[in-house]
Amino acid sequence: MNAELTNQTVIVVGGTSGMGLAIARLAISRGASVTVASRSPDKVVAVASELGAVGVPLDTTDEASVREFFAAVGPLDHLVVTGSSVRTGTLKDAPLEDGEFTFRSKFFGPYLCAKYAQMKPTGSITFFSGILSRRPGHNDAVLAGVNAAVEAMGRALARDLAPVRVNTVSPGMTRGTSAYLSMPEAAREGMYTSIASNLPVGRVGTADDIAAATLMLMTNGFITGVTLDVDGGGVLV
Ligand SMILES: NC(=O)c1ccc[n+]([C@@H]2O[C@H](COP(=O)([O-])OP(=O)(O)OC[C@H]3O[C@@H](n4cnc5c(N)ncnc54)[C@H](OP(=O)(O)O)[C@@H]3O)[C@@H](O)[C@H]2O)c1
Repeated sequence: MNAELTNQTVIVVGGTSGMGLAIARLAISRGASVTVASRSPDKVVAVASELGAVGVPLDTTDEASVREFFAAVGPLDHLVVTGSSVRTGTLKDAPLEDGEFTFRSKFFGPYLCAKYAQMKPTGSITFFSGILSRRPGHNDAVLAGVNAAVEAMGRALARDLAPVRVNTVSPGMTRGTSAYLSMPEAAREGMYTSIASNLPVGRVGTADDIAAATLMLMTNGFITGVTLDVDGGGVLV
């Protein structure tokens, strides 16, 4: 076993589902002490017990809770923030509050985590954006904007927080997550097949693909300020 995270403290905000869960599982397999955090106490308890991790309920949109969470955690090696919620809709019909909710959760949530985390100088922060920043579909103005904002924040904080390294993963469509679970399974699989047929790699991603890329960003001490596309070539087509 490659144990490059032995004795390292890893916090995965959003670690109870999808990519965050895969990242937490992989970090534990590489020797890390992992804390998973998300809003639902039930999910936190279940995942912590399944993985042998510490689990703490946390809503990143609540600044006081974020401050208390990181004060209790103390100094840490790696912070990964996959956790966010978004609201979608059309420019003409969606209320402004929906867009503000999305920015509050997907931009200011990670921003507050970076603000209050007590990072060791050798550590890293990994944010999550998404392919829509550069390849928006229809009605994606807010999602395109929030993803681009997260990527820009990653570059800015790579300078402000140096020598702590700060990077952003930009996933393409990824299965094994909570996204698209509201769709009927047949429709969801049809969508995956359709997207896959247009991708250079011929398949959509998995949460494990994303976890492997995130582990690389956490452990490669010469990478900071990048947005890493993990999208099967999706930005190219
Ligand atoms: N899946 C895709 O195809 C895809 C594509 C492009 C980009 N992305 C991005 O990649 C990241 C991870 O996506 P995913 O699909 O793995 O997500 P997911 O399966 O939906 O999991 C999201 C996690 O975040 C937690 N969470 C949500 N809001 C939170 C908040 N305010 N505070 C703390 N935790 C919160 C959720 O748990 P609770 O409900 O318990 O809070 C859950 O554990 C997200 O930023 C997403 O936008 C995903």
